[in-house]
Amino acid sequence: MVSIAVVPVAGHGTRLMPLTRAVPKELLPLGRKPVLQSVVEELQQCGIDDIVMVTSDRKQCVLREHFQTGAPSSIQFANQCEQLGLGHAVLCSEEFVGQNAFLIALGDAMIGLSDHASLCRRMIRIFHETDADSVIAFQSVPIERVSRYGIASVASAYKAGDEFFELSGLVEKPSTDKAPSRFAIAARYICKPDIFSLLRETKAGAGNEIQLTDALRLLIDRGGKVLGVPITDTEQRYDVGSFDSYFTAFIEAALADPECGDRVAAKLREILAKQ
Ligand code: UTP
Repeated sequence: MVSIAVVPVAGHGTRLMPLTRAVPKELLPLGRKPVLQSVVEELQQCGIDDIVMVTSDRKQCVLREHFQTGAPSSIQFANQCEQLGLGHAVLCSEEFVGQNAFLIALGDAMIGLSDHASLCRRMIRIFHETDADSVIAFQSVPIERVSRYGIASVASAYKAGDEFFELSGLVEKPSTDKAPSRFAIAARYICKPDIFSLLRETKAGAGNEIQLTDALRLLIDRGGKVLGVPITDTEQRYDVGSFDSYFTAFIEAALADPECGDRVAAKLREILAKQ
């Protein structure tokens, strides 16, 4: 059973300065809700009721305030005292996770515009059916964007349309000519608790941060069975990590709004026609 999720939300959000001086980027709206609320709802829809948010002293107060009313799940807060990277943030959740397999959902990325949970439901099912050590979501990105992501080396004879593939490696932010595929890690992972000892072994990598990707590569190198699950067209990842992705994600979420979407679309057409 995967019944616990770790949601890292402690990052500085430096790419969104000055917006993130006081406002956590995870509370930025995509449509009518903060992106983090959609993440919590996604987890609930997957049957996950225990959520560990890894946060910082600075952000904890406002996050608690947002979720204290009306969140049916149990949300606990783990503190990341120093922002040493995503891998380090996950390590900060260890005592809350204990011996359980767990899902990691990045708090600044929403999956899909309406059914947020289909991807994680599928990942959980594949994790159980295959007895994998880890299952990671992947999105196909244009070749010119591979250098922004963790990219998969695909081991098995994967054919388009297959539900998953096995990974033979992972490369963090490769150059275009070195990218082993166009499959980029997409904000959702399932791990077993052995990932914590691998994270402890992982030295600071890209950006001088402890990278979750590096610990997962170590898992693959040591013979772990790590599977990649491609996302479908309706499971696109919408993240607020950069102004580019935040602005476009907000527009798409606004266009999908059942009440105002049509009017926003008409206005947008008018604006674009003048350009
Ligand atoms: P990012 O690397 O996109 O977030 O991490 P960041 O570090 O805030 O970004 P920049 O580069 O400074 O703009 C993805 C998720 O992991 C969390 C972030 O809060 C975000 O939700 N994270 C990142 C942590 O919890 N701790 C960290 O040390 C780094």
